[in-house]
Amino acid sequence: MSEPHRVLDDAATYEANDPHRTRDVLTGFPAQCRAAVAIDTSLLPALKRPRVVVIAGMGGSAASGDLIAACAGEHLEVPVIVHRGYGLPSVAWDDALVFAVSYSGDTAEVLSAAAMARTRRLPTVFVTSGGSLAALAAQHNLPCALVPGGLMPRMALGYLFFPMWRALRALDLEVATVEEIDEALAVVTTLGRELAPDRPVADNEAKRLALAVGDRWPTVYGGPLTGAMAYRWKTDFEENAKTFALAGALPEMNHNSIEAWRAPLAQSLHLLLLRDGGEAPEIRRRFEILKDIVATVAGGVTECQTRGRGVLARALSLVYLGQWTSYYLAVLRGVDPWTVPQLDEIKRRLSRP
Ligand code: F6R
Repeated sequence: MSEPHRVLDDAATYEANDPHRTRDVLTGFPAQCRAAVAIDTSLLPALKRPRVVVIAGMGGSAASGDLIAACAGEHLEVPVIVHRGYGLPSVAWDDALVFAVSYSGDTAEVLSAAAMARTRRLPTVFVTSGGSLAALAAQHNLPCALVPGGLMPRMALGYLFFPMWRALRALDLEVATVEEIDEALAVVTTLGRELAPDRPVADNEAKRLALAVGDRWPTVYGGPLTGAMAYRWKTDFEENAKTFALAGALPEMNHNSIEAWRAPLAQSLHLLLLRDGGEAPEIRRRFEILKDIVATVAGGVTECQTRGRGVLARALSLVYLGQWTSYYLAVLRGVDPWTVPQLDEIKRRLSRP
């Protein structure tokens, strides 16, 4: 067995390269999802069924909005817009419901969205573990789903997603049925066992993916559903493994990014294709042609599949696989997967008067 394979199957690697025990948080993700499903949102006031749902969040918190939007795409006639930025989009006026989602509760863009929602008198639900957002909710008696703290926001997806799911359900906006939730929980629970550090490389897809990427730059493409997951993989690679990463979605990338796949630069990229069991035949065909064209120039190509039947199980299983893959890449490269010093530095400088 080659050296990097041995490294990922050696407990000492994790002791040395994962000092904050990110592995425990990732292993606990299925339990986090179960706890999050049980978070009681019944105290949220009875709101009117909205015409549009706007989810304001950044980074790891915004990812929970992407997951709601991905599920809503299959279930709802009400549009779900994920807003990453200051203020609110102009669509957020009468009959809009706003979610202000910030795990820390201190993200400037989300606080500004919450302030604008207040000015526009829009019904707003906060989802946070504390900070200024929780203080604002307490001060003005605003609806707030308070979730447990102490995690990195990007690793708190369960806590951020499920309270929104429940609040929407109470408004008769069901982005996932109870059966789909149960299936998704079962799928991530199984996956949690399959991807944990004690599972050897031969039997662990996330370790194999990280090894396949190796020293190359990960480039992640998805399809109509998994394109949003490809973006999440990219940000997890960036934040956990501290590496440049690219992401895109079919069919759009067939109309632009495909031209960038030329030798010799493409040799430095490893292509990860996020395939979906529910893929339409025309998308499948595009993936096959893409592989054919790119395989000869890319540093490597690997495919991953969604698990489960429902859209939530399919989406969440891929997100979880990406979290573990970026984690193993970090450990392999000797990078602490927990800390985000550059990100913290920007926040620190911005908070100075
Ligand atoms: C850090 C992370 C970031 C944060 C982002 C917004 O783990 O995932 O992408 O999510 O900086 O912060 P929050 O989520 O606290 O509003």
